[in-house]
Amino acid sequence: MSNPIFTLLASQILNGENFVKWKSNMNILLICENYHFILKEDCPPVPPANAARALTEPTTRLEQAPVDTRKTRTQTYELAEECLRINYYGARRTAETLIPFLQFSDSPRIVNVSSSVGKLQSISNDWAKTILSDAESLTEDRIDKALREFLKDFKEGSLESKGWPSFLSAYTVSKAALNAYTRVLAKKYPSFLINSVCPGFL
Ligand SMILES: NC(=O)c1ccc[n+]([C@@H]2O[C@H](COP(=O)([O-])OP(=O)(O)OC[C@H]3O[C@@H](n4cnc5c(N)ncnc54)[C@H](OP(=O)(O)O)[C@@H]3O)[C@@H](O)[C@H]2O)c1
Repeated sequence: MSNPIFTLLASQILNGENFVKWKSNMNILLICENYHFILKEDCPPVPPANAARALTEPTTRLEQAPVDTRKTRTQTYELAEECLRINYYGARRTAETLIPFLQFSDSPRIVNVSSSVGKLQSISNDWAKTILSDAESLTEDRIDKALREFLKDFKEGSLESKGWPSFLSAYTVSKAALNAYTRVLAKKYPSFLINSVCPGFL
């Protein structure tokens, strides 16, 4: 069973109670495997042999899926750290650097590019969920603390037992942290328009 979809179906038997987590993992997997568009798009008619490129393109796309996604599926500690560094700390440093300039703007805006996998429902680690969802007490330090705990659990191989997402966990956690940071910024700079956007599958 080398197909990751079969592997997920075999390792996480759907029993009703686990539907939310099962569906979330399946969704992520379909996105990573480049299959997600198949659920959203109508099956194209088979184009004639001499059809123009615009007509053959949807079929070619179907035939070429999945692309090689081994890199996105493989999670090492180093890649997890890098993912947090780019997706969360990169966005945070960018905001910190640009905010002094945005103060001069008549309509200051910050849009953090997040993802729907970063919704708190993807995280069942109660401790982290409490920290990240408590908008009143959220601070950069508290987000750092949650991320350090995640990396510690990753290193110790205890992600699953501690309730972190088992699939694409670093990506999911980085986006959950980015959403939390968006709330911190929005509270700090009430005169700015500050949002996270989940662009959906592109
Ligand atoms: N694609 C989707 O379906 C989807 C869905 C939900 C959310 N998103 C989010 O949307 C954003 C863009 O995704 P995408 O699919 O458009 O990704 P992408 O095509 O891979 O583009 C990523 C961009 O980030 C830049 N980048 C990567 N590492 C960087 C680093 N260390 N420092 C500075 N720039 C760096 C890349 O620069 P180079 O070109 O120079 O490498 C590239 O321009 C991401 O935040 C992603 O999480 C995407």
